[in-house]
Amino acid sequence: MLIENMRATRGDYGDELRAIMSIAKARESRRWLAGWPQLSPTATPLWPLPDLARAMGVARVELKDESTRAHMGSFKALGAPIALIRLIQRRWPGAAFTADDLFAGHHAAQLSEFTVVSATDGNHGRSLAAAAHDIGCHCVIVLHKNVSLEREQAIASHGARIVRIEGNYDASVEEAARLAGANGWQVVSDTSYEGYEEIPRDVMQGYGTIVDEILEQRPAASDAPCPYTHVFLQGGVGGLAAGIASYFCEQYGARRPAFIVVEPRQADCLCQSALAGQAAQASGSVDSVMAGLACGETSPLAWRFLQPAVDFFLAIEDGEAVSAMRRLAQVQDANGDVPVVSGESGAAGLAGLIHLASDPDLRARTRLDAQASVLLISTEGATAPGVYRELVGKGAQDILAAQISWLDEGAA
Ligand SMILES: Cc1ncc(COP(=O)(O)O)c(C=O)c1O
Repeated sequence: MLIENMRATRGDYGDELRAIMSIAKARESRRWLAGWPQLSPTATPLWPLPDLARAMGVARVELKDESTRAHMGSFKALGAPIALIRLIQRRWPGAAFTADDLFAGHHAAQLSEFTVVSATDGNHGRSLAAAAHDIGCHCVIVLHKNVSLEREQAIASHGARIVRIEGNYDASVEEAARLAGANGWQVVSDTSYEGYEEIPRDVMQGYGTIVDEILEQRPAASDAPCPYTHVFLQGGVGGLAAGIASYFCEQYGARRPAFIVVEPRQADCLCQSALAGQAAQASGSVDSVMAGLACGETSPLAWRFLQPAVDFFLAIEDGEAVSAMRRLAQVQDANGDVPVVSGESGAAGLAGLIHLASDPDLRARTRLDAQASVLLISTEGATAPGVYRELVGKGAQDILAAQISWLDEGAA
């Protein structure tokens, strides 16, 4: 299902939105994250995929590969740590804690009674657990029934306490809020709800790091047009899409690229929001192989950025995401594209591109033509390695080995 968002505009990025999320704050987040040893010290790769571009009938496709962001394997490593740092700074206003000192655990003694709690479908909780561990506070993570055991173990390996519940993602969000109220803990969630916006704002702001890097990786004059005509963004609660789109909108105003948000059909809360004109709930069962996108409720704060910015919302089937994972993992010779490890949610953006490009009517509606320059963000690698192997037929290590050979062949 493709929905054209009639409320999208190409106006200036107004002061009201800039007061919530801005390029300046994204850059500050990036500077702070540079002091966290858990993250890769270099920018994640921006791979050109000329073979894919040919197959899609567009001029160019580039893919920002977040699998190497951190050993946690996803872009979510940019959000929770920033939100936690800013939260601690707000709570201890006189202490003048710096991000560097907090990440280095220099204030662990003072923070040893402080507990943060969050629901997660995997990646956000893993990043929060890792940041809390290094900073020196306690972390409790609430998991719904569909989060795999291997994702649970990865979170627990950072010392977080795990609470399992029977319901789905949205029920786990409610349980985290209940536990926080009952125990005096602080919720650090990547989704907003009424009266709870500061922390999810800071999480989304951290994601701006991705665009800041991309625009450095494609250097151009500051008044040059945007290098992309189309940006595909995966949608869970909408935080990733809001964090990325807000940066492009502030930078390019009326010359911003078209944004296409892609989400699972069963968890179509963003499509439903576009139809309703306000943050809404999914119409389906929510469960999806795209674990990170299996969210039933749109983040209202994210929606404030998405409603004016996103041109199209697309719901896809699980099988399309799996085909896209396999396409990215394909091993080719040096004339083909680099093999990339992209997980179930990470590959959903490509699945959206394939969906639109293979239908002449959808191509025309979204103006995906021979001049189009497309940006994809693979938001995760094999964050559930067993699931990845099962779906792709090879392990992530095999694909990485093929990637190294491909790079060696190209260099020879
Ligand atoms: C790998 C991956 N991609 C995309 C998303 C979507 O992000 P958001 O929920 O902020 O829309 C998630 C969310 O967990 C994710 O884990």
